[in-house]
Order: sequence, then structure tokens, then C-alpha cells
Amino acid sequence: MLIKKLKGWELPESLVTPEHMFLNRRKFMVASAGALALLTAGGARAEDDPSMGLYPAKLNAAFADAGAPITPEDINKKYNNYYEFGTSKQIFEAAEALPIRPWSIVIDGEVEAPMTLGIDDILKRVQLEERIYRHRCVEAWSMVVPWTGFTLKSLVEMARPTADAKYVRFETFNLPDVAVGQQPGLLGSYPWPYIEGVTIEEAKNDLALLVTGAYGKPLPKSMGSPIRLHLPWKYGFKSIKGIVKISFVKERPIGMWEAIQASEYGFWANVNPEVSHPRWSQASEEVLGTGERIPTKLFNGYSEFVASLYTGLEAEALYM
Ligand code: MTE
Repeated sequence: MLIKKLKGWELPESLVTPEHMFLNRRKFMVASAGALALLTAGGARAEDDPSMGLYPAKLNAAFADAGAPITPEDINKKYNNYYEFGTSKQIFEAAEALPIRPWSIVIDGEVEAPMTLGIDDILKRVQLEERIYRHRCVEAWSMVVPWTGFTLKSLVEMARPTADAKYVRFETFNLPDVAVGQQPGLLGSYPWPYIEGVTIEEAKNDLALLVTGAYGKPLPKSMGSPIRLHLPWKYGFKSIKGIVKISFVKERPIGMWEAIQASEYGFWANVNPEVSHPRWSQASEEVLGTGERIPTKLFNGYSEFVASLYTGLEAEALYM
């Protein structure tokens, strides 16, 4: 494993494209062009979103000030990590190919009764609110985002988990027809779909937000529409986008990045400036759109809300 040679999110050796897939590159490019055509021909635009009337939602006064200016919307929606649509930060146009209606979410596992709910049915049953959160990527950049969403805690209540539910596991769509990163090619060997997980206690923490909007509107597709998670005290890779399944489980889920490179991306991934990533420091972060680098804070500045979740867990790798 040539980890030392890698920068940022570059591929570990185990995931480098096998030769036969490389030879298929031409086919892959034709397929990508097809996905783009779909975007221009029939892909619904964010303005056509049937939930448009629910925004803007009321700002929660407890999260009205993240201690720094809000990142301009245009920077946020055009600088993304969304590997389903490619490895670059500029996946904004490719992500437009994702159909977001109809959109169902399966809720299953250790629950009183499994269910499948349409996104608009969920939106009718929850209380949307706006919260301004800091968003810190493991790659040492950050933004300040006015999210709209509802607490993960309220979804846990709706799901009625049994006493056996120790973790919550989230799963993203797997749609190679529209998601170029999931087609045979450079990322085709990733263990799709994207998976992430938290403990049931973390899921019930008031900070954990299921996000359906940003900047007073439905979420842009590049940012995870129609529904994503945001866990502001953890590195951004935990905040899974395009969720289609939420499972209450007994065993600790293995996230996609953990499955790819467990020595670098763990289950807990809590922000800590004193614990370096194996390949770079986490002491500071570039605040996108400001040209500034600021010191990173423990739990991304949210210790008062979440530090108690980790009492007694000091033996765990809490910060990777
Ligand atoms: N969710 C899915 N399904 N696919 C991804 O590639 N990237 C993660 C996370 N959620 C990712 C994902 C990473 S690494 C980060 S930093 C954040 O999304 C980025 O969110 P943003 O693009 O809205 O800033």
C-alpha cells in the first residue's frame, strides 16, 4: 500500500483501476456523456422541487451565529465532495443528473415496524428549522452553512427503534446509470454504495441534523439533495448525502471510507486539532471564500453539546 505517496483523497493502491476497466474507458466516457444528456433533456431543476414552499424555515435562535460569516452560496454549491459524481470538487453539473422525485427512504432493522416513506411524506411529518453550522472537512477546509432540516432525533422517534438498536447506519443511492463515479471506471471499484454510521446516542444528540435545504431553499443536488446528514462536530465524510436507507442495527457499521482505508478514516471521526491525519496536520483549516486559515477547535467548537457522549470511550480512536 503506497499510502505515503498519496495526497488528500487520492486512491490507495488497492483501488487503482484494473487494466480491463482502463481499456473500457471509451465506453465509460460515452456513458458519462449519456448522463449529461439526461441532465439537459429531463433532469428536474432545483426550482422545480415540490418542497420549495417549505423554505425558508424559521431560524433556530440557538444556532443563529456560527462565530464566522456564512460562506457564499455559490462557493458552497460548486465546491463539493460527492464521489458518486467524480473525484473533482466541480461535480455541480454532473450531480444535476440525479432524479430526486420520486424519492423513498427505507427505515428498517431493529425497529418496531420497518417502513418506506417518500421524502415529501417525511417533510409533512417533521418540523423544519434553519441552523447555521460550521462544516469541517477531513481535508482541512471549512465552510459556514445555513442548513435547513430536522433533527435526526425526531426521525429516531418516528422509527421507534427497539432496545437492540445500538447504531444507525445510513446508505446512499447506487445508480450507475446517472452517477458517473459508480460506473465502471476509475471509481467503479469503490465499495458502493456510500455508507456511514453513528451510535444511537449520537443519533439522539440535538446537533445531529437531517438536512433537506440550505440558504433558505431546497438543497442543491451537489450538496446532497433531497436529504443528507450533517454532524457538525465530526469530519465532513460522516455527513452522508443522497440518503435512501436508514437502518437501526446491533453492530457498528463500516463506512465506505473506512472500508477503503481504515488506517485513515475511522468510525468516530470527531474533529480534534491535536490528532493529525496520518498524512497531514488537522491543527488549522482554510475557510473557503475568505483566504484565511484559522485554528481548528476540538469537536469543531461544539464540545458543550457533544463531549459527554464520549465519556468512558477514551480507549476508542475517537478522532480519526
Ligand atoms: N456523501 C456521499 N454520498 N458521497 C460522498 O462522496 N462526501 C463526504 C460527505 N458526504 C460524500 C458524502 C465528504 S468527504 C464531505 S467533506 C462532505 O460530504 C462534503 O459536503 P459538501 O459537498 O456539501 O461540502
